[in-house]
Amino acid sequence: MDDLIRSHLEEYGQDPNIIAQAPGRVNLIGEHTDYNEGFVLPMAIDYYVRVALSRRKDQHLRFFSSDLQDRKRTSLSNLRFKKEDRWANYPKGIISVLLNRGYDIGGLSFTVMGNVPIGVGLSSSAALEVATAYAVQKLLGIEISGPELARLAQEAENSFVGVQCGIMDQFVSRMAQAGSAMFIDTRNMEYRHIPINLLTVKILITNSSVPRSLVDSEYNQRRAECEKCVSLLSARKSGRSLRDYSAADLRDSMGLIPETTRKRCLHVVEENERVREAEGALKKNDIVSFGKLMNRSHESLRDQYEVSCPELDWLVKRAWETEGVYGSRMTGAGFGGCTVTLIEEEAIPKYEARLEAYEKIFSFKPETFLCHPADGARIVFQQDGS
Ligand code: GLA
Repeated sequence: MDDLIRSHLEEYGQDPNIIAQAPGRVNLIGEHTDYNEGFVLPMAIDYYVRVALSRRKDQHLRFFSSDLQDRKRTSLSNLRFKKEDRWANYPKGIISVLLNRGYDIGGLSFTVMGNVPIGVGLSSSAALEVATAYAVQKLLGIEISGPELARLAQEAENSFVGVQCGIMDQFVSRMAQAGSAMFIDTRNMEYRHIPINLLTVKILITNSSVPRSLVDSEYNQRRAECEKCVSLLSARKSGRSLRDYSAADLRDSMGLIPETTRKRCLHVVEENERVREAEGALKKNDIVSFGKLMNRSHESLRDQYEVSCPELDWLVKRAWETEGVYGSRMTGAGFGGCTVTLIEEEAIPKYEARLEAYEKIFSFKPETFLCHPADGARIVFQQDGS
């Protein structure tokens, strides 16, 4: 934290008034269900983005990434998405949404620092959005509930950045509790914290290191396909999202719905069932059943929703072959990114040894790291009187 304060001071000649941190996340199960009003079971990870903020006397917005040594600037009256602003579009989006909601915001200087791996499906962007929104909220003394702040951050991503993501990442980054995963019903935002008691079992992330060029276009396309399917299904049985339909409804709709679409939507409704079962298993501390559900989830993402890739499938297979692994699956939107594996601590070296061939086959270097269920957004520094 001292580094961030020093970095802010060097950049702006002023101490920060406030610093907020927000975590990245790993989704344990419930993939591509959140934009279909379904269930998800993610947890926040102990990797964070921190945003330091100080007030300015003018109407400018300055952004400094101390990790990337990159600077961007704009003014409150000229807030637009600009491709070349890359990472700074996320905090810009938050300010834009707050202004649209009528909040009175003056000029601000931002410094960003973090250790959430960027662009690998662990929600570094959601963490940056949530940390920004939370810092601004607390600095200006705005009343916004946690779920509402998550919505606001999602809106920034949907309408300012232009990615049609669901609510999961922002919600868990704001609302998580250390030691627990979160069951979220994305239809009505009801949620429960589910304690994770793993004892000797670890949550291991493996980054496939695959460049993720397809992810945004394929993501938006999958989303559109789900919506199209609902419009076709609703001609027979009323409903407003895939949440309102069962696997039987989809099986009965052969001929009505194009085969690929039907297969993909089957993933969504079956994944919802798996999340419910996984919640039950986690509550009973039944890691064996939980792991099997993770494996089924991966197969379905690979074969039905078709968002995996050879590299992720290879990593998951190596995990499945390793004694001491309970479950392993791709996590996040897919097309590269990471896998998440529940593994006995003593089995980790055996699993890692199996990954040695990966680089030769795919020419990317995989990375593994442990993570623990962490708290959602927090204020970690506040100057007296600000
Ligand atoms: C991304 C999105 C989430 C969710 C997942 C897939 O992480 O931001 O809203 O849709 O993909 O489950």
